[in-house]
This record gives sequence, structure tokens and C-alpha cells, in this order.
Amino acid sequence: MSNDGLFATALIKVERLKVVDSTNEELKRRIAVINLERPIVIAAEEQTAGRGRRGRTWLNSNGAVLMSIAVPLDGIMPECFPLVNHAAAVAVSRVLRELGADTRIKWPNDILIGEAKVCGILSDLVFDRKNFPCAIIGIGINANADSMPDGLMYPAVSLKLVLGHEVDVNYLIETIGNRVFSCVQMFKEGNARELLNDYAVECSTIGREITVVPCTGDEWSGFAVEIADDGRLMVRDDQGVMHMIDAADVSVRRDNSK
Ligand code: ATP
Ligand code: BTN
Repeated sequence: MSNDGLFATALIKVERLKVVDSTNEELKRRIAVINLERPIVIAAEEQTAGRGRRGRTWLNSNGAVLMSIAVPLDGIMPECFPLVNHAAAVAVSRVLRELGADTRIKWPNDILIGEAKVCGILSDLVFDRKNFPCAIIGIGINANADSMPDGLMYPAVSLKLVLGHEVDVNYLIETIGNRVFSCVQMFKEGNARELLNDYAVECSTIGREITVVPCTGDEWSGFAVEIADDGRLMVRDDQGVMHMIDAADVSVRRDNSK
């Protein structure tokens, strides 16, 4: 993927909301009753029911980015939908790096600084009124919080805590809206492998010993080898058998002891 595409700003208009249950849910409701022909971006100051993956909760932190981007998925095979998430992760990680944050992507959908989560991405596949597929890409970034919410399962951090100064949330929302859209467009135009190569460069899961935690069944350990063309993680177990890991089915923990 060339950088030119990333910087080609489509100048998407962002609609601001004060409080909403979830920006992803809000876009789902809207898309069900329209024909989505161009992207929509909404951002909220607060969510009352922010969602993470697999029914988990996304908690508000002070001065956060809480936004969702709806993109029509014309011309994309449904099995390629997970790659939308990867496109968004590359775009967001790059924007945060430009601010000076040393971000890495934790497969499939987290942006970390060191071992702490600064951003989560949740992509939903939905259908508009004409039954055309659309992606809703939800992005939550801990931006200007001085402390992280209580009750998180894993370490979290804000940009302010890392950079030592406040960040411009409006700039982040506008820039990320446009960059995510550009990245998804490039992927739609057939640059999936290039996108995945970019993703792999930024992904700290690859080349590490990891623990795979399935939704059901026992956890196991292996070595994260690479990202497959469909976005799944290729993991070699201790017996040398390669497994294709689907993001919907597992959590991945990095094994820092090896
Ligand atoms: P994995 O992606 O490997 O399953 P995960 O913990 O990142 O692990 P998600 O499915 O992405 O799991 O679920 C959302 C996670 O984000 C939960 O662990 C939740 O505690 C955490 N979380 C919720 N709000 C915040 C926040 N503001 N900052 C950082 N993390 C948060
Ligand atoms: C995750 O880490 O599991 C994904 C978290 C995604 C959070 C964002 S905040 C904006 C959008 N609205 C939601 O309800 N979730 C996403």
C-alpha cells in the first residue's frame, strides 16, 4: 500500500453526538433504513452501552475518541469482511504513531502501547435497506484520560499519559475517519495483500509465542507465524501443526515468559 493513498483525504463529514448507547448500534439502526451510498461517520462524547468483541463492554474514559464509520462494501466477498478490521487497525495505528505514540497492533483488533491497550476496534457486518453489505467500524481510543476506568481485564493507557500532553480529539476523529475510509477503499480496489503486509509490519503478535484461548475448550500455546490472506492468524503448535485462527473464535495472549 503506498502512503499516497492513505493521505488522499476524502474529507468525510463527521456528525457529533453528545450521548448515545453505542456509536456502532446507532449506525446499525440508521443503515437498516437507508441505502448506504457513501460513508457516514459519527462520534459521541459518551456511550452508555459501549461494546467490545464477543459481548464485552467498552468503558468510557475521560476525553476519549468514540466513533464509528459506515462504509458500503460493494464488490467485496463476505469472507473478506474481516480484512476491513485489519485496514482500520493499520490506519489508526499510523495516525497515533504520527502523534508520537509507539503503537503496535495486537491481532486482531487492539492497538497497544507497550503492553497497554490504547484503542479497540470493533467491526460489524450489516445490511442496508436494499440488503447491500456494509461495514461499521467502531473505534474507541483512550485519548485525554488521566486515569483508566476501573474493572478492565488487561492494562490500558491513554495517549495523554504516554505523550505527556493533551491531544486534539477533533483532529483525531477527522483524520482517522478519512484515513480509515482511504485504507478500506484501497483494500476494496484489490490491494488486500499489500494491506496485510502493512498490517504484519505493525503487528506485535507475529513472531511471538502466544497462548490461544478458544471460546470453548482448553487453551494451548504456539508460535504466531504470519497473517493469512483472509486475515486469520497462522499459529504453529508445539507439535509443529499449523492452525488457522479465526478472530471470532479465540483470544490471543502473548506469552512473555518465552
Ligand atoms: P482479545 O481481543 O484477545 O479477545 P481483549 O481483552 O482485547 O482480548 P476484546 O474482545 O477486544 O478483548 O474486548 C474488549 C476488551 O477491552 C476487554 O478486555 C475490556 O476489559 C477492555 N476495555 C474496555 N474498555 C476499555 C478502555 N477504555 N480501554 C482499554 N481497554 C478497555
Ligand atoms: C474491543 O476492543 O473489543 C473493541 C472496542 C471498540 C470500542 C468502540 S467505541 C466506539 C464504538 N462503539 C462501540 O460500542 N464500540 C466501538
